[in-house]
Amino acid sequence: MANTAARSAAVEKKIDEILSKMTIEEKVGQMQQLAANMDAAKLDEYRKMGTIGSFLHVLGNDTQKYIEPAEKSRLGIKPIFGIDAIHGHALLKGATVFPSQLAAACTFDEQLVEKMGEVTAKEVAADGLDWVFSPVLCMGRDLRWGRIDETFGEDTEVVARLGAAIIKGYQKDGLVAACAKHYIAYGEATGGRDAYDSQVTERRVREVLLKPFKAAADAEVMSVMTAYGSIDGKPFTTSRKWLTDILKDELGFNGLIVTDWDNYKALVHGQRVCEDLCEACKDGILAGNDMCMYTDVFYNAAIEAVKNGEIPMSAIDDSVRRILRMKARLGLLDGMPARKLPPRSVIGCAEHAAINYEVAKESAVLLKNNGVLPLGDVKSVAVIGLNADDVGAQYGDWTYYSHPNPNPQATPKDSVYTLLKGVREVFGDARVTYAKGCVIEDGDCGADSDKAMDEAVACAKAADVAVVVIGDRLKYNGEGKDVAQPILRGRQIELLKRVKAVNHKVVAVLVNGKPLVLSEAEGYCDAIVETFNGGDMCGLAAARLIKGEENFGGKLPISFPCGVGSGPDYYNQYDYWHGGRYADVKHENPYPFGFGLSYSRFEYSAPVLSAGKAKRDGAVRVSVTVKNASDVDGKETVQLYFRDRVCKMLTPVRKLLDFKKVFIGAGESKTVTFDVAVADLGYYDENCVYTVDAGAFDFYVSGDGINFGHAELIVE
Ligand code: NOJ
Repeated sequence: MANTAARSAAVEKKIDEILSKMTIEEKVGQMQQLAANMDAAKLDEYRKMGTIGSFLHVLGNDTQKYIEPAEKSRLGIKPIFGIDAIHGHALLKGATVFPSQLAAACTFDEQLVEKMGEVTAKEVAADGLDWVFSPVLCMGRDLRWGRIDETFGEDTEVVARLGAAIIKGYQKDGLVAACAKHYIAYGEATGGRDAYDSQVTERRVREVLLKPFKAAADAEVMSVMTAYGSIDGKPFTTSRKWLTDILKDELGFNGLIVTDWDNYKALVHGQRVCEDLCEACKDGILAGNDMCMYTDVFYNAAIEAVKNGEIPMSAIDDSVRRILRMKARLGLLDGMPARKLPPRSVIGCAEHAAINYEVAKESAVLLKNNGVLPLGDVKSVAVIGLNADDVGAQYGDWTYYSHPNPNPQATPKDSVYTLLKGVREVFGDARVTYAKGCVIEDGDCGADSDKAMDEAVACAKAADVAVVVIGDRLKYNGEGKDVAQPILRGRQIELLKRVKAVNHKVVAVLVNGKPLVLSEAEGYCDAIVETFNGGDMCGLAAARLIKGEENFGGKLPISFPCGVGSGPDYYNQYDYWHGGRYADVKHENPYPFGFGLSYSRFEYSAPVLSAGKAKRDGAVRVSVTVKNASDVDGKETVQLYFRDRVCKMLTPVRKLLDFKKVFIGAGESKTVTFDVAVADLGYYDENCVYTVDAGAFDFYVSGDGINFGHAELIVE
């Protein structure tokens, strides 16, 4: 503690010293971030100045040409390099590519997610970069949104806990800076349309969306990114209320705020709230943005606005101080202790692959099993489907296949396990046949999709079991890829139907960015496994899981849709008082939040409270005994939900309060306890004041989001 205080006093002294020497141009230069793929001539001009604060999407091999001019500049302040390392340092071919955030959330395992952050940080730092634009703390609730794959799912508690865990991993030993994004309400954009107006109220933001950012601030996240959107007609980029009053002052976030890509331009050209870019820069800085991503006119505009007195120097100094503080923490300022950078050999190393395998294994979710799994030692396996052997589709967004420069023809690195490769290795090459199967989008399988379909059916007919890999493609998954219909596209349902007609063991494996409507497809499947975008090791993990060499432990952090247009389908909605159902869709969701099967069979005792009554400032312990009533060791995620039975404001049917993932050996029992502070059972009233009611509260304990044990607490 004393050390940290001394260090930060030394840092602040150093920053004061630098600030006192800086010209306006040098200060504003620090607030500018430019991108590797912007206009090359302009970039070169800025690069040579040596005073630009940050660059993004520059990979390790290129950093030196940006560092040199900076070192030669008057104050010698090095630039900070940012990168979208969202699930591993995945824009660099050869680095470890982890499962997407959504897949990783299925682990419900904070330690594993922290490790994922730690590994990514090591590889990013070893590549000479400093700053990851991760994690995404947006809520994944509207399945039309293209970026569902980047979220930790639909629940506040899960997003907050896993978000804080990965931040801890990234920032361990000060290796890289993390960036919590996108602040705020980005996932709530109307119609699931990316970067659009969010029709939410402040109360809803506080009830559902703010907690993950509070958790990030508490985890000392070094930066936050401003969302593209708007709330109540006000763009976040110009909202002093949301950026300064709430994020910096109320939540106590003391890092730097960077805009998202070209937010300043959107203020003029899309949102029409500023006359020109000069006004946009002024409004953005005064709202609390410290660094401007990509929009290069920011540099001259902000200098001009300071010179003519429109932006006070104190605002600029505050931003520059935050930027220099982050650089100091990363050892980028002269005289500050340097980070111990890992050697380049850690990038994609075997130790990281082993951790990646663990994440992939724990993130696979068994949705359905009529007894066909585990497959054991079957004689022959037909693997069918384009996604069984398509690294781009398996990786999802933000890798060297997709972003920022789409490269669908990229050759995969050798170490990637597609489903096909995994099944071949696990079941033995000679037993496995493969057919692409069917069209998901136009042009798949060449011109003759009937022929491809016939070949797949013949392949399925000749094998003991058909593993059909279905899902979506990069065209429908990721930033800018919103869809009106989250469905299995092309002829995939027809394929399943025809395969089922010739083989009585059909195992569907989903490789996709988000939950899709399965209502028709599931009737043709004996088992369904969800892997989302499972990264490098997904194929090996899934193959071992379906064979039975491993057990499933994943749970859904997001609900599947009941039908096209049935959304929102997230679990913690309000009660309905007038039906609230569509006449054409069955609403009993077979795959809700919290669901996931296992080869183990877990039996729950009724939950027991340490006391039936508690004071508002008191606490209570909830205990439940879980028995593994099978002969297979397994992991179970025990979930604790609550409800304020009668409340002056609407509150959800139930809300996740806590979860614990436990290993329970075959035949063993474990008592799982949750310590609940009554202060956490509150809600925001109509004036957005946090309140805890007296009265009855219901606790629900579950292992699948469908069956619940119940206990009652009276708060006095
Ligand atoms: C836009 C995305 O919204 C954001 O998540 C990303 O970090 C930046 N671009 C930089 O690529």
